[in-house]
Amino acid sequence: MDLDGYMRALPKAELHLHIEGTLEPELLFALAQRNGVRLRYPSVESLRKAYEFEDLQSFLDIYYEGAGVLRTERDFHDLARAYLQRAHADGVRHAEIFFDPQTHTSRSVPIEAVIEGLTTAFREAEKEWGLTTKLILCFLRHLSEEDALETFDRARPHLDHIAAVGLDSSEKGHPPVKFRRAFAKAKAEGLGAVAHAGEEGPAEYVWQALDELKVSRIDHGVRCAEDAALVERLKREKVPLTMCPLSNVKLRVFDSIEKHNLKSLLEAGLRVTVNSDDPAYFGGYVLDNFRAAQSALDLLPEDLAALARNSIEASFLPKAAKAALVAEIEALKP
Ligand code: HPA
Ligand code: ZN
Repeated sequence: MDLDGYMRALPKAELHLHIEGTLEPELLFALAQRNGVRLRYPSVESLRKAYEFEDLQSFLDIYYEGAGVLRTERDFHDLARAYLQRAHADGVRHAEIFFDPQTHTSRSVPIEAVIEGLTTAFREAEKEWGLTTKLILCFLRHLSEEDALETFDRARPHLDHIAAVGLDSSEKGHPPVKFRRAFAKAKAEGLGAVAHAGEEGPAEYVWQALDELKVSRIDHGVRCAEDAALVERLKREKVPLTMCPLSNVKLRVFDSIEKHNLKSLLEAGLRVTVNSDDPAYFGGYVLDNFRAAQSALDLLPEDLAALARNSIEASFLPKAAKAALVAEIEALKP
């Protein structure tokens, strides 16, 4: 098997994926037409051309605008189905998927339509492709904690569909500690917790996510490298980092993939994983991220297997399901 075939065949879990960030321009245009939404772009090509970002905020502005075409349960179903089909083709066996309810409820789209649409597609993917999924409800950190608490109350009747809460959107100036009560509430209901930290924000936000929000994974976390004591802790406690190399280059967290610290942190013994973040906006799905990292950082087959194993072990899957997938990884020869 060549290296590309090996990367595809490795059983992988995708753990850092915003469903709204999988909205490809073609589907965005189709949904705009279906829902009678007027766009400020005349064509798919002109929209795609606008995907040049300076930083996280310049991306978020266009990402929230794009999400405006998502109106009905069917829209959310079609969005998730398209992603899952693509992920299946990349050898993703399990996906833990973020959604941003506040982006939709603020436009009067009921949270029921969002959750029903997504989970209908999830059930189809499991039945048709054996691809399992979990749903993670993210709070938008640029909004208030009161808004997050209200959102959690709206989601309460649907908690059987939700595995964990997360924290995303504009990081700078919005420290994890701002959401301490919202995370405590979710944890008291038995949900897991993850948070974006150390993408554009400082290493201090990673400490806060661990200590104040009690998260079990850090999304991105690349700026942990600025704090040796933090790196030591992440290693000691085996805290997974859900890294997204193509995203980090598109949003100028790193100048190039060659400069990405994924390999050095993997070699330092951290539980690094590879994910796609917002693939429709950042130029690639999970296999594209593996390919880019492999060639720029000269990752060896054992590095690729470690990344795949880390993703399975860092997931919220039950022990037996993890063991079965890890056994498949061990048995796969490059
Ligand atoms: N960071 C923060 N918020 C986000 C991202 C991200 O990479 N993608 C979608 N929302
Ligand atoms: Zn993200």
